[in-house]
Amino acid sequence: MMKNFNEPIIAILIGAGNRGMTAYARYAELHPDELDFIAVAEPVEIRREKFADLHNIDPKLCFITWEDLLAEGKIADIAVICTQDQLHVEPTLEALEKGYDVLLEKPMAHTLNGCVKLVKKAEEKNQILGICHVLRYAPFFDKLYRLINDGLIGEIVNISHRENLGWWHMAHSYVRGNWRNVEESSPMILAKCCHDLDILYWIVGSSPRKISSMGNLMNFKKKNAPKGAPKYCVEGCPIQDTCLYYAPRTYIDIEPILQMIDKSEKSFFKFIANLRRNHLKILSFLSKIIPFLKQVRYWKEWPVEPLYHGHKEDYSDEAKFELLKTSKYGRCVYQCDNDVVDHQIVNIEFENGVTASLTMQGFSENEGRSVRVDGTKGTLTGIFQLSGEKIDFYDHFTGQKETLYNQPMNLTAHGGGDLRIVEEFLKSVKNRKTKPLTSSRESLESHLMAFAAEKSRLNELVIDMNDFRNKLGL
Ligand SMILES: NC(=O)c1ccc[n+]([C@@H]2O[C@H](COP(=O)([O-])OP(=O)(O)OC[C@H]3O[C@@H](n4cnc5c(N)ncnc54)[C@H](O)[C@@H]3O)[C@@H](O)[C@H]2O)c1
Repeated sequence: MMKNFNEPIIAILIGAGNRGMTAYARYAELHPDELDFIAVAEPVEIRREKFADLHNIDPKLCFITWEDLLAEGKIADIAVICTQDQLHVEPTLEALEKGYDVLLEKPMAHTLNGCVKLVKKAEEKNQILGICHVLRYAPFFDKLYRLINDGLIGEIVNISHRENLGWWHMAHSYVRGNWRNVEESSPMILAKCCHDLDILYWIVGSSPRKISSMGNLMNFKKKNAPKGAPKYCVEGCPIQDTCLYYAPRTYIDIEPILQMIDKSEKSFFKFIANLRRNHLKILSFLSKIIPFLKQVRYWKEWPVEPLYHGHKEDYSDEAKFELLKTSKYGRCVYQCDNDVVDHQIVNIEFENGVTASLTMQGFSENEGRSVRVDGTKGTLTGIFQLSGEKIDFYDHFTGQKETLYNQPMNLTAHGGGDLRIVEEFLKSVKNRKTKPLTSSRESLESHLMAFAAEKSRLNELVIDMNDFRNKLGL
């Protein structure tokens, strides 16, 4: 049945972590007339209570696990599922079974079979299953897609796409953090780049025919640990003053954030970064009067936020230092239990003849994506970074260059894509049609590409995607 456009969509949240709490539920804070969370499942008490407070949730509808929440039956229109990679399939199957439309974090599942099961279940139940490939909804990629579809560069021939992870992001998420280990999460090409593969598939408008991939873990290994380095950085590391990855630099001095701010073109941001780095006493004083400066002085957003998983929210330098003595984020990057790659390349030939390459690497000076699309009549180049976004067009006939999109520093996550995907999902739920959202069947493509790439990398094979699909019964 079509939902009345004037009533908010009623939602439940499973997993009130970083993504659930801040990326998607934020939409309800900004647009309470469109989205209302009435229940939450989250085992970490502090997070559960914080979420309940933010959304005014009845304590009777606050649950420790997704099983307990879904055992209540269908009590809302939609379920937003933001648990970790390996806990996507079961709650989603159950929520679809109960009749919820589901907005599920990417990757949809950490196994191929899990992905296929989810798509089939959504189709069998005729429920909407949206996968959070938020990049598609970022204005930058939307613009790129439209320019190409409008024929600006003629026929696309080749795409070269890079996911350049900042050196700190690599260390935080894929060496020390939640996505460091395949057994515990998923292959990095899936976890990090199913987004990028989705963008390639979308822009090319054709299914992949052949895939090959190479990559390995080169830097973050025990053999590269500095002599005498303790397991935790704050235990008196002999190279703490010169190590790029010394944990207090990242989590207390927020060096990565300052480097990002430094790269912005806005002098005000640069001024703030300088204040934080070189005039801490002045900043501490001013932050007592100006709330915005307090946020900069006692940074609590990513990458600091995951450090507080279940801990009291004290963001002083001393409290952070204490946490780093035992937190996984305090570990020496050369002595973790990580096994995911730190660089990987993927080559793709699509059914329509277009070729594309994707580079994912974790040693970038700046965090973000860059893309180059060459067509029969022109070339588009794009950069999509926190410090700014830009698309340039090169016309082969005139030889002229034109900047078609230019956005300064954008600190809203994924260039605005996080909130726009919620907006599109809500529209789909109200219309009872998958569009404007991407269908889960369409999102499956990028996951197939990621699993095929991983198979290629591990077995040194070129993967024929038709064989790959046939074996899955697709
Ligand atoms: N779309 C994107 O761009 C993007 C970006 C980052 C992460 N992700 C994905 O989002 C997902 C969540 O990532 P995150 O950083 O928010 O992780 P997180 O660890 O901060 O959040 C997951 C939450 O799930 C909770 N949880 C664990 N067991 C549960 C259970 N039985 N029932 C209910 N909740 C339970 C955890 O306590 C935690 O708070 C991951 O799959 C990740 O790969 C997507």
